Amino acid sequence: MKANLINKINKLKEEQNAIILAHNYQINEVQAIADYTGDSLGLSRTAAQTDAEVIVFAGVDFMAESAAILAPHKKVLLPERNAACPMAEMITVKELRKKKKQYPKAAVVCYVNSSAAVKAESDICCTSSNAVEIVEAIDKEQILFVPDQNLGQYVADRTTKEVILWDGYCRTHHRVRPKDITEVKNAHPQVKIIVHPECKPEVVKLADYVGSTAQILEFAKESNDEKIIVGTEMGILYNLKQNNPDKDFYLLTKALICQNMKMTSLKDIVCALEEMKYQITVDDEIRLKAQSALDKMLELSN
Ligand code: 13P
Ligand code: SF4
Repeated sequence: MKANLINKINKLKEEQNAIILAHNYQINEVQAIADYTGDSLGLSRTAAQTDAEVIVFAGVDFMAESAAILAPHKKVLLPERNAACPMAEMITVKELRKKKKQYPKAAVVCYVNSSAAVKAESDICCTSSNAVEIVEAIDKEQILFVPDQNLGQYVADRTTKEVILWDGYCRTHHRVRPKDITEVKNAHPQVKIIVHPECKPEVVKLADYVGSTAQILEFAKESNDEKIIVGTEMGILYNLKQNNPDKDFYLLTKALICQNMKMTSLKDIVCALEEMKYQITVDDEIRLKAQSALDKMLELSN
């Protein structure tokens, strides 16, 4: 059954000149068949550079939208229409415009986990792997950081600039408690704990390393530790294990699961390629402004 689906995907991919991009939180079998797996920055870069005509995005809506913004002449497909990021829904254009009036001198830095319309209202985008770098590179001293309050605080703690926070958050990472870290540290004081900056600041402070999913994978590869505890969505365990078969990885808490990232199946990918659905498009007016915010980010990040 699974082998059948994989064969179909490979055949359809060739027929349609398609590439499959998967986020590091996707289910194991989807990551296994993807042409590229990565964090939000890596996925945006790959979408912008690919020669394929069709991009199948195994992730959540804002990621496919970013691909459609960066590659306007390609067909971008989101196999599961309902895969959305709740954090991206915690800010609207109307609310952002109101806040901008309150802080007219601030540069708006928008986490990629946001809608195209919110990106279009922002000066520049960032991801969890380059947020500090982007804020530092901007020639303004006051930053309105939206929508993730935790990533915003992570940046605020690493810059001398004034960072005004929004009140959005990732429901998955926000569930991690300082207690989850202290309990594990007490039981296993020698084991390193690495977390995502979408975790609360009090959790981040207790961790041994903080990074985007790609940075966490890199850290694990470089580390000499045989056991590592990970505080990010459980999908990361697939690539951690694939890349480091001799090391052991443990999830900090079993609450670290994002239902939206688990929606896309191999069957959905077959349907997406057979029926060219669900195509993600962005109106030109919004797209051009959002593209400028994304392009500026890509130019500034190494
Ligand atoms: P990164 O893979 O960019 O670290 O993003 C995490 C995330 O929550 C995406 O939804
Ligand atoms: Fe959104 Fe968090 Fe899920 Fe990422 S893990 S898609 S930020 S809810």
